[in-house]
Amino acid sequence: MKTLYLVGFMGSGKTTIGVELAKRLNIQVVDTDQYIEKQTERTIADIFAEEGEEKFRRLETVILKQLPTNDFLITTGGGLFIKEENRSWMKENGTVIYLHCDIDEIWARLQDDDTRPLLQHQNFEKAKQLYEWRQPFYKEAHVTIDTTNKPINQICDEILVWVKETTSRA
Ligand code: S3P
Repeated sequence: MKTLYLVGFMGSGKTTIGVELAKRLNIQVVDTDQYIEKQTERTIADIFAEEGEEKFRRLETVILKQLPTNDFLITTGGGLFIKEENRSWMKENGTVIYLHCDIDEIWARLQDDDTRPLLQHQNFEKAKQLYEWRQPFYKEAHVTIDTTNKPINQICDEILVWVKETTSRA
C-alpha cells in the first residue's frame, strides 16, 4: 500500500487520528512536526522565531522526501500540503487524505494553545482568512473526510472504509 498522508488545518486532529489509524492498519506513523523537532532538537516555535518560516518550510520538504512512500502513515504540519512542490510529490507518491473541520470547532480547540506560531496573537478573523485561503489546496487531496463534531473512532472508520474501497480497486 502507498503511504497515507493526513493533511489539514492546524487543530483538525491529524496527529491524534493518525495514531489511532496506524494502530488499526498495523503500520508505522510519523508526524512531520515531531520528526523535525527530534532532528533539530528544537521546538517548531523556536525554529520559526530564530530562523523564520522559510527555513521551516525548507526543512519540511527535505524530511517529506526522506520518509517512506510505502506502508506508512504520515501526519503533516498544516502548511506542508500548501507548497506546490510538496503537493505534487505527495499526490504522486502516496494517498492524501484531507481532514476537514469547521473553523469554529478548530478555533475553540486552539484557544489555549501557544505552540503554533502562525496563530499567536491572531484573532478569529485572521485565522479564518488563512483557513479559507488554504481550502482549495487541501481539496486537492485524494479524498476529504469531514471530522467536525465526530468522535475519533467514527473518523477512523470512515477513512478505513474509503482506503479499503480504493485499494481493492487498485
Ligand atoms: C503550521 C502547522 C503546524 C506546524 C507549524 C505551521 C501551518 O502543525 O507545522 O506551526 O502552517 O499550518 P499542525 O497542523 O500540526 O498544528
